[in-house]
Formats: sequence, structure tokens, C-alpha cells
Amino acid sequence: MNKVALVTGGSRGIGFGIAEKLAAEKWDLVINGVREEVAVAEPLAALRKHGVRVGYARGDVGSAEGRKAIYAATHAFCGSELARDGSSSSGFKSQVSGFLLVNNAGVAPKVRADLLETSEESYDYVVNTNLRGVFFLTQAFARDMVAAKKADPKFAAYIISITSISATVVSINRGEYCIAKAGLSMMSQLFAARLGADGIPVYEVRPGVIKTDMTAGVTEKYDKLIAGGLNIQPRWGYPDDVGKAVAALSRGDFPFSTGQVVMVDGGLVVPRL
Ligand SMILES: NC(=O)c1ccc[n+]([C@@H]2O[C@H](COP(=O)([O-])OP(=O)(O)OC[C@H]3O[C@@H](n4cnc5c(N)ncnc54)[C@H](OP(=O)(O)O)[C@@H]3O)[C@@H](O)[C@H]2O)c1
Repeated sequence: MNKVALVTGGSRGIGFGIAEKLAAEKWDLVINGVREEVAVAEPLAALRKHGVRVGYARGDVGSAEGRKAIYAATHAFCGSELARDGSSSSGFKSQVSGFLLVNNAGVAPKVRADLLETSEESYDYVVNTNLRGVFFLTQAFARDMVAAKKADPKFAAYIISITSISATVVSINRGEYCIAKAGLSMMSQLFAARLGADGIPVYEVRPGVIKTDMTAGVTEKYDKLIAGGLNIQPRWGYPDDVGKAVAALSRGDFPFSTGQVVMVDGGLVVPRL
């Protein structure tokens, strides 16, 4: 019997950093991404070195079809049966002692455009992936977690969503991203309120500037900003920093803190004079 974590967007970047920390803490893992499984053989092999089971659930979080595929692959990994239409499951069976959903997958706008130039296409792409998709994926797994908790109060269930300082810090050249992350922050509080009585803690982890493929195109800009005092801690953040926060939350070290935000931003949002 083991606990299982689904890390969306766990194939690289922050998600992989989270997956590595969870693997070290002996969570079996389902990793999600949009690329074919052959393309992610390396990260999957690296995670398996921790001696845990690792599966891959390919699918676009932003599409109903993609979420259905992620849901089905995750339940197949857990040994649960799916309803004929794939929309619900038999719940987590006795071979799974806990389930952690890490909502990490997310995209930046393909083009950073001024607020007055933001296209509907970019708005839909970013909000669909980073907010709408995450809401409905969370809803699907939350139903299963509630059922599992009812059947066995010792079942360990957690939901952790990776938002961004963009939930509160304005960037007028990627407004759709800020709107999606602000919405995701509210989503985290909503699920915390809905699931509190069911014994399912829900947390938000809010990173600052983290070195990944997502920020690769703006390295120079952030190098300069960090050197100029953007963060209180004068360095880039790394996927490992976010992974450590998620590992601490899912270890059960914050049992009376549901609905809270854990900042992983090197002090970026601390007001200074
Ligand atoms: N980097 C930062 O500075 C920063 C700061 C604050 C918050 N964040 C947030 O942290 C999360 C991870 O960011 P990152 O920097 O690690 O990004 P990244 O390096 O671009 O990696 C993105 C990950 O998400 C997956 N992915 C992308 N679109 C997807 C979709 N539609 N459905 C399922 N999976 C998808 C990718 O899968 P493939 O490998 O298959 O492409 C990859 O695993 C995002 O939510 C981002 O908004 C990042």
C-alpha cells in the first residue's frame, strides 16, 4: 500500500523539481505532460531511481479530452476502475493509502503583448490551461478524495496548486497570465473551504522568479532585476525551492493551515522603502 501523487507538468521545470522531492519521500508518482512518453523517458527514469513506482499520464490539462486521459491514466496506475464513460471512478482502492494532486502545469502567453493588444486567442489559451482546466481536473479528483476519506478517514488526501506572484503582482505585458493566476488563487481557497470538513487540506504555493524553460527567454532581464534588488534574497529561485515547500505541505507538517499561501519568492513581494 502506498500513497500516490499526480504532478501535472511534472516532466520538467518546477513540476519535475516537485516530483523529485516527493519521490525522495517515497510517494509513487504519476507525471503529466503534453509530450509523448518517449520524449520524457529521461525524467521518468531519474524519478524511478528513488525506488518508487512512476507512471506517465499524457494529456492537455486545458482540454476536456486531455483531462479525461489524465484521469483515466491516473486511476489505472492506482488500480481503480473507471465508469464506462470515463467520467468517474470506483474511487481509490485499498492498495492506495493516500492521494496528492499537485496542480503545477501551466503556460505563459506565447507572446508578451501589452494589455491593449492582448488577443482573445492568447487569453483563451492561457486562461483555459492555467485556470479553467485546473478547476475541472481538481473537481474530478476532489470527488474521489471525498469518497476515499469517507470510506477510510485515515486516507491521506491533499491538493496543492502552484500559482505565481502574478496572482498579485501586475505585469501589463501578460495580463491574461496574471488574471489566470489570481483566479487560481481563489480556486485554491474555494476548494479549501469546500473540503475542510472532509479532512482534505488545500494549499497554494506561490513562486517568484524561478529558473526553468518558461523563464529562459527572459534570463537577461531577470538577471538584471535580481542584481538590482528585485528579491530580498539576491538569487534566482530553483525548482528545488518549490519542491521543498510542496514536500513539507504534503508531509502533513501544516495540518491546521488549509487555504493558506506559501510564498517561494525570495521575498520579492515584501514591500520595501
Ligand atoms: N518559472 C517561473 O518563474 C514560474 C514562476 C511562478 C509560477 N510558475 C508556474 O509554475 C508552473 C510550472 O512552470 P515552469 O516554469 O516549470 O514551466 P515549464 O518549464 O514551461 O514546464 C511546463 C510543464 O508543464 C507541462 N505542460 C505545459 N502545458 C501543459 C498542458 N496544457 N497540459 C499539461 N501539461 C502541460 C509541460 O509538459 P511538456 O514537458 O510535455 O511540454 C512541462 O512539464 C506553471 O504553472 C507556471 O505558471 C512558474
